[in-house]
Amino acid sequence: MTEDFDVSSDWHVAAPYEFLRGLREHSPVFRSEHLGAYVLTRYADVRAAYGDPGRFSSAGSLTISRSLTDRTREKLGEHGSFLGSFVANVDPPDHTRLRRSVSRAFTPRAVAAMEDTFRRLNEELLDRLDPRGEADFVTEIGHEPSVKLTARFIGVPEQDEAFVQAHVKDWFQLFLSPQPPERQLELADSFLTYLDYVDRLVAARAKDPQDDFTSLMTALIGAELSHREVVELISTILLGGNDTVPNQLGNTVLRLLREGVWPVPPGLVANASEECMRIDGASLGSFRYAATDIDLHGVTIPAGALVLLSTDSAAHDESVFPDPGTFRIDRPNAAEHLVFGYGIHFCVGAALGRLQLRTALEVLGHRLPGLRLVPGGPIAYRKSIVGRGLPSLLVEW
Ligand code: HEM
Repeated sequence: MTEDFDVSSDWHVAAPYEFLRGLREHSPVFRSEHLGAYVLTRYADVRAAYGDPGRFSSAGSLTISRSLTDRTREKLGEHGSFLGSFVANVDPPDHTRLRRSVSRAFTPRAVAAMEDTFRRLNEELLDRLDPRGEADFVTEIGHEPSVKLTARFIGVPEQDEAFVQAHVKDWFQLFLSPQPPERQLELADSFLTYLDYVDRLVAARAKDPQDDFTSLMTALIGAELSHREVVELISTILLGGNDTVPNQLGNTVLRLLREGVWPVPPGLVANASEECMRIDGASLGSFRYAATDIDLHGVTIPAGALVLLSTDSAAHDESVFPDPGTFRIDRPNAAEHLVFGYGIHFCVGAALGRLQLRTALEVLGHRLPGLRLVPGGPIAYRKSIVGRGLPSLLVEW
């Protein structure tokens, strides 16, 4: 096979599925030079690896970008290893403790209680945009309601939302994608300003608790959590709301419009959104480190090696999803996709993510039944190792 797993190339970002099918068939444990990682592509292997944290470790797996320069590290000081204790980035027993704490905020009741707010945020946005008859779905429709919902869930005051959003983007870039040296310094400044802000928010809630995530986690400082763990949790949950759900919604709307399924019949919204997550998942996979030598399909993954669990490939595995490249609104097992991961790190926000996708499809279908793509509008996914999303999607109604 001559091609590599190369997310910087256009063909891979646009249409990786023939390539992934070849890997599943001939090279299910594929060593990618480009990624510097082994790639697992079969559904059964990806699921088994997620379910085996003893051999497939999450410690440090999120902060795979090792590109910070010495000057940037100096500037960041003790914060240079930010995310080092984030729940998705650690193994048991730390994971067990952190996960127990964070789960307190995502009870089924707490999630269900967010539906009305989210619906209202969507309605308000459409009240403003409806008369225009056209918009960029990604930048003008998809993001705002999720970003606002997450900010309220965390307890960020409304007047600080834009500030927080800008800074979250900066720290995400700094720690999770390679940046040129000068840009790193700018991003590091922005990150330190952001950390100050979160520290102040935590201090304010310690004094005067409210009904929000920050207060709930702050109350656990000293008992279950450290101050730093709380700051990292707040930051990553803000990120969860800023990026993953809007990306998934953009991919979903593009798919539905292209398939001519708009508005989605109310009884089919839940399964349609699962099938869209399966076929155009916003998350492409997760990284792990091999904790020991791992023998699989005749290949030895050496201890310490980086491994990508390709959920995108798993979602297109013909042994689980027949005719995987075809969108089937009534696919019976669509929800078996692994786009939220699996096992102990299964996405803690999955129910909230699902609720947002379903609610957005309902409100959009009701308010903009004539939604369609602007003919000739540019459609290209962003280049990214683990996330799939559109920078822009021009629509009219
Ligand atoms: C469609 C939207 C979403 C997708 C595709 C997604 C995807 C994922 C995936 C694949 C993982 C597992 C990572 C791993 O095993 O290494 C994960 C974990 C996590 N997600 Fe999500 N997520 C979404 C929405 C959210 C939301 C809305 C929140 C919070 C408000 C959230 C918070 C988290 C947290 C805290 C973890 C870490 C859980 C742990 O390590 O135990 N996610 N997510």
